[in-house]
Amino acid sequence: MSERKIHTTQVAIMGAGPAGLMLSHLLHLAGIESTVVEIRSRRDISHTIRAGILEAGSVDLLVDSGVDNVLRNGHEHEGTEFRVNGEGHRIDFKGLAGSSVWLYPQNEVFDDLAARREADAGDVRYECSDTQITDVTGKPRITFTDSAGQDWELRAEILVGADGSRSYCRSQIPESDRTRYFNEYPFAWFGILTEAPRSAPELIYANSAHGFALISQRTDTMQRMYFQCDPTTNPADWSEDQIWEQLRLRVNGNGFALKEGPIVDKVVLPFRSFVNTPMRHGNLFLAGDAAHTVPPTGAKGLNLALHDVKLLFESLDSYFKSGSTALLDTYSDRALDRVWKAQYFSYWMTTLLHTVPGEQNHAFFRARQLGELRSLLESEHGRAYVAECYTGWQGK
Ligand code: DHB
Repeated sequence: MSERKIHTTQVAIMGAGPAGLMLSHLLHLAGIESTVVEIRSRRDISHTIRAGILEAGSVDLLVDSGVDNVLRNGHEHEGTEFRVNGEGHRIDFKGLAGSSVWLYPQNEVFDDLAARREADAGDVRYECSDTQITDVTGKPRITFTDSAGQDWELRAEILVGADGSRSYCRSQIPESDRTRYFNEYPFAWFGILTEAPRSAPELIYANSAHGFALISQRTDTMQRMYFQCDPTTNPADWSEDQIWEQLRLRVNGNGFALKEGPIVDKVVLPFRSFVNTPMRHGNLFLAGDAAHTVPPTGAKGLNLALHDVKLLFESLDSYFKSGSTALLDTYSDRALDRVWKAQYFSYWMTTLLHTVPGEQNHAFFRARQLGELRSLLESEHGRAYVAECYTGWQGK
C-alpha cells in the first residue's frame, strides 16, 4: 500500500456528472480551486444515455461560461406537440412564454464540460475507489484511492455532493437533521434509440387510452422514443415488433405515422420523486440528483441540477471573495424554491398524460383526464402555463 498523499483545495466536489463539472468549471473561471472525485470512468459517464432537453437558462449558463457547442450541435425548439388520441395540439413556447428549449443530450453536455475541464488542466479524478468522508460540519476530508492505486486525503473548506441519486454525501447528514420526501408512481418509461429519420420537427407528448408516449430526437438519423410501461418490465422480453406496435397505438393517427427503424438501445427508466431537505449540512452542500429526483416527464432533472449549480457557484464566489456566508446560508431555501416548482410540474404533467393501470375507477380517471386535457389545450392561458413551466420559468 502506497503512502497516503495529502492535497488541500478550497472546494471538494464529489461527482463528475454535469453538475459537478459545471461547478468546477465556473469556480475555475472565478479563480477558486476545486478537486472533483468520481468513482465512474469518464467513458461510463459519457455513455450513459439520459434526457435531451435544456431550458434556455441552462443553455445561457453553458454558453456564457464559454462552453458553446450546444449552439452549433443542438437544436432550438420553439414549441412542442401534445397529441391526444391521435390529434395534435401545438404549444407555442416562443409565442406564449417568449422562450424556447434546446434539444441537446445530457451526454453531450458532459462531454463538452469534461473536455473543457481537461483543456483548462482541471483537477478531475475519475475511477476513484474507497471514498470516505469525514468532518462535514468542520473541515471536510475525503480519503480515496485514485485510478493508479495512489491513496489520497483531500482537505477542503467546502464539500459539494454532486454524486447523483444514490449520493454517498447525502448519507453523511444525520437522519435527525433532514427530511426526505418521496413519491412512487405506478409506471415506468420504456426508452429506445432507433436508427430512423425524425418523425416530426418538434417533440411529441402523446396521450392515448393505451398510455403515454414521447417522441424525442437525437440526430438526423437517430431518434429517442419512450412509452409508459409497467415498472417490472424487462426490456429484453420485448421484440422490436411489440415495441413499435405500442408506439403506433399511442401516437399514429389522422394521417400521421411514426418513421420506424432498427432499435439499437432499450432501457426501462424508473419513476420517482424525491427531495432531501435541507440541501446543506455544515460545510456540505448538495446539488442536483444528490438532493432531488423528478420523474422524467418534462425533462427537468438536468435543468434543476444546473440551476442548483448556478446558485451554489454565486454563493461560493461571494464567500471566497468577501468572507460573507449570507448567500451560502440561503442556498438551500433558494434552490428548493425551484425544486418544488419542478416537482409539482413533473408530477402534474405525468398525471396529465399517463393512464393509471388497474385503477378501480379507471373509466372515471380517463374521462376526467380527457376533460382536463381539453380544458387546458383549448385555453390560451392553459397552453401558456405549460409553455412557461416547460421552458423553465424564465426571469423567475
Ligand atoms: C427527453 C426526455 C424527457 O424526459 C423529456 O421530457 C423530453 C425529452 C429526451 O430524452 O429526449
